[in-house]
Amino acid sequence: MNILLTGGAGYIASHTCVALIEAGYTPVIADDFSNSHPEVLNRLEKITGQSIACKTGDVADAAFMADILRRHDI
Ligand SMILES: NC(=O)c1ccc[n+]([C@@H]2O[C@H](COP(=O)([O-])OP(=O)(O)OC[C@H]3O[C@@H](n4cnc5c(N)ncnc54)[C@H](O)[C@@H]3O)[C@@H](O)[C@H]2O)c1
Repeated sequence: MNILLTGGAGYIASHTCVALIEAGYTPVIADDFSNSHPEVLNRLEKITGQSIACKTGDVADAAFMADILRRHDI
């Protein structure tokens, strides 16, 4: 099951990302990296041993969010 994880590269949601994967879910991250760094994604993939979908953009952008929902069967 795909779970939309807004701010997924941030402090709390990056830990949530690992927990979701451990619980068998597939997180799809949406983050604009305004308060985090894309390197977090590499670290998450190293920790979990999985490729993680991440879309870069603003969650207040309705078209950006609609595109994620359409493409990823959230
Ligand atoms: N080591 C520590 O103890 C530690 C470290 C960091 C933070 N904290 C605490 O954790 C709390 C903050 O953590 P958090 O996870 O809520 O915040 P965060 O800032 O770490 O994560 C928010 C994420 O959302 C993203 N984001 C922000 N606006 C966005 C937008 N419009 N569209 C898309 N992405 C957007 C940011 O880039 C970031 O990756 C605070 O209380 C802070 O004091 C503690």
